[in-house]
Amino acid sequence: MERPSLNHPPLFPNIGKTQTKEVKVVKTQSFDTLVTWSDAISVDNKVIDDDHKKLIDAVNALYAAIHSGGEKLIVVDAFDEMMAYTSYHFGHEEKLMAKAKYPDIDDHARQHRGFIEQLGTLYGDFKNGKDVAGRALLNFLKFWLTTHIMVIDKRLAHYLSSH
Ligand SMILES: [Fe+2]
Repeated sequence: MERPSLNHPPLFPNIGKTQTKEVKVVKTQSFDTLVTWSDAISVDNKVIDDDHKKLIDAVNALYAAIHSGGEKLIVVDAFDEMMAYTSYHFGHEEKLMAKAKYPDIDDHARQHRGFIEQLGTLYGDFKNGKDVAGRALLNFLKFWLTTHIMVIDKRLAHYLSSH
């Protein structure tokens, strides 16, 4: 998918300031990147890492779409694509958990559902004009994605590698 070109500075230069230092963010990268893949967010499981890279691509595409000036169809398409990939990925992780009889499967799956629900609420606010710049939506995406991957998914990957 071709990204819209961005020739303005980032609208949210402070995004990511409360995150861990290991996760590189837009202010040190290209303007159209909300989350950048790095070894710090690898869970040391190639299958899950590959999914996460694609998920990060989808999140960055949404970020670029919102920054492109909010052209409605572009944002809707990017959001739908990101949600579709998220659903696929959560299902994938949950299958891996079930197959390995992962003891924390219920808690982990509950986090996935909570993410989908909260994202739906924030996207609704964005579409209704309550969150004009998509700031709450993007902040939530970045925070949730990085913390979930670095804590919850790492725990899962560690279990998978030892069972
Ligand atoms: Fe997960």
